[in-house]
Amino acid sequence: MSGPNTDYDPVEVTPLKAEEVEAARDAALAAITAAADLAELKQVRIDHTGDRSPLALANREIGALPPQARKEAGQRIGQARGAVAKELGERQTVLEAEHEERMLVEETVDVTLPTDRVPAGARHPLTTGAELIADIFVAMGWEVAEGPVIEAEWLNFDALNLGPDHPARTMQDTFWTDPGTDHLVLRTHTSPVQARTMLSRTPPIYVVCPGRVFRTDEYDATHSPVFHQVEGLAIDEGITMAHLKGTLDHFATQMFGDGITTRFRPSYFPFTEPSAEVDLVCFVCRGVGEHDGAPCRTCRGEGWIEWGGCGVVNPRVLAACGVDAERYTGFAFGMGIDRTLMFRHGIEDLRELFEGDVRFTTAFGTEL
Ligand code: DAH
Repeated sequence: MSGPNTDYDPVEVTPLKAEEVEAARDAALAAITAAADLAELKQVRIDHTGDRSPLALANREIGALPPQARKEAGQRIGQARGAVAKELGERQTVLEAEHEERMLVEETVDVTLPTDRVPAGARHPLTTGAELIADIFVAMGWEVAEGPVIEAEWLNFDALNLGPDHPARTMQDTFWTDPGTDHLVLRTHTSPVQARTMLSRTPPIYVVCPGRVFRTDEYDATHSPVFHQVEGLAIDEGITMAHLKGTLDHFATQMFGDGITTRFRPSYFPFTEPSAEVDLVCFVCRGVGEHDGAPCRTCRGEGWIEWGGCGVVNPRVLAACGVDAERYTGFAFGMGIDRTLMFRHGIEDLRELFEGDVRFTTAFGTEL
């Protein structure tokens, strides 16, 4: 059943007179011209051509007219509606083009403008590397100790059994602040932190000491007047060389991966007796000496890589630093952090670590 015709309101029906139709058409055309954008034009379309618009209402009335009048009114209204539709279409095209133009201008991005975003930095591999090393020892219950970079000559040398005539004390290796008067040096190794630690606390002592050291070296791909070392010192009752070996094997494995252990070669350091050089199993050829069918480039076919020095702490050093050498023994080791990182990350030129180029540093990202 159909309901009442609610769309049709006879009260609002516009008369079909020519003036009325013209007025409705002109009103529509004026509104179309006045529409400033597509949204306004949409409203004009609804108002002037929609079901309730005067022209649409007039159109509905045509059917009720006698034949002759119907024809005339039909033509009049048809022409008016046609003119409005044509004008609407044209205005639509114009406004669309304007809209597009405006969007192109408004949405223009100048890719050459400097960005205001601050790029995220990365921590320097030397910082994260020193922290990684410290963490390996802290996980074994060791502590981290630090000392000053401007060091007393006595702690840098004498306390460590480096007598006044030792070659390392000549001007070639050491930066002196004011030779012969203030007895201060830029520390040539991290070993004075050993002496400082023994002098300031009582055993048992288990410390690692990462830090910056200085030598009058040329600056090239493998040398720098400023570089970094990590020192280790363990003083306790019953410490032997076996503890040293086990500790360094663990350190090497943690740094370089399973199977990368160490070997000792007899050597001499004034502060240890016996002393050894520590080598690492080459982590590229894994000790074989060959890689991809050619002699391994990393270890030059040796299968081993020099890593640092170590030994059992010389009782003379214990005595100089106030440790009871009858009761305690200890081991110590020291190696370059820079060198260790060069191995670990395949860095071929030591200078990369010092030149502060963010393109180098960011490659290490956020490694913790
Ligand atoms: N201080 C030594 C150097 O700079 C490295 C070193 C060797 C440290 C043996 C030690 C050690 O503690 O026992 O070459």
